[in-house]
Amino acid sequence: MTVKVRIPATSANLGPGFDSIGLAVNLYNYVTLEEADGCQIVSLDGAPVPTDETNLVYSTAKKLYELCGVPFKGLKVGQINNIPFARGLGSSSACIIGGLKGANRLLGNPMSDDELINLAADMEGHPDNSTPALTGGLVTAVFENHHVWYVKQEIRGELQFVAIIPNFELKTSEARAVLPETVSRRDGVFNLSRAALMSVSLYSGNYQNLRVAVEDRLHQPYRLGMIHGSAQVMESCYELGAYAVYISGAGSTLMAIVDAKCQKFGEQIAQRLPELGLLGWQVHTMGIDNRGTVIERV
Ligand code: HSE
Repeated sequence: MTVKVRIPATSANLGPGFDSIGLAVNLYNYVTLEEADGCQIVSLDGAPVPTDETNLVYSTAKKLYELCGVPFKGLKVGQINNIPFARGLGSSSACIIGGLKGANRLLGNPMSDDELINLAADMEGHPDNSTPALTGGLVTAVFENHHVWYVKQEIRGELQFVAIIPNFELKTSEARAVLPETVSRRDGVFNLSRAALMSVSLYSGNYQNLRVAVEDRLHQPYRLGMIHGSAQVMESCYELGAYAVYISGAGSTLMAIVDAKCQKFGEQIAQRLPELGLLGWQVHTMGIDNRGTVIERV
């Protein structure tokens, strides 16, 4: 049996919701899995993926076999990676969820989606990318004692999410290393009020709140300096009419939330980038994905 899995990209934090809010967008990785002898990994689009047992799809799938107590002989894995690596769009989560959902299907679905969500958060470290990668939609989550407490909300298609993707990677570990260990009560309150406003405003369609709701004092002020040109790009997004703009996940991508009626936004921001001296950046205009990971027919 061959299983084909489609996994959406995700955008975590949404400004103030550090490690706790994320959403899925309609840019997809595809993974095929088939039981085989040993480790056989093929990149179907030429993206440079590890072809040994360190491959994240492979190692995650193998882990699920072990957890289920099923002898593991090996897997044939095929990957199509449309989600760019190390840009804050959930490429690692997509591999983890692809490995878990695919292996679970090969095993006859012994685990529920909620159990896979807990395992994925354990592997990824935080639930804000891995959970929406499986569920789709907007997810607000708390990860405690290996358990993800979450709510998925479906977002209406009135918004577009425009990813402005730098020509450089930013490793999550490096983007976390610059963050302070402690924050003031004032900054804590600043963030928790905005994170709550972000979640409920997106869900209820009160988009005029987003510009205030997106502000953050826990991570963005420390990370913006690692993303050359980010301040100018954010300013340009607001000039062009974005509701909000934030660092997607740990970066390096900047994500603008824009009314779906502003059809030219992506084109306009793409034209600005060279004027700002930012060459080789890419712009992807996306919509919300409310379905999450799906197993496709092969
Ligand atoms: N919330 C994480 C961070 C990103 O900002 O470091 C991905 O899980």
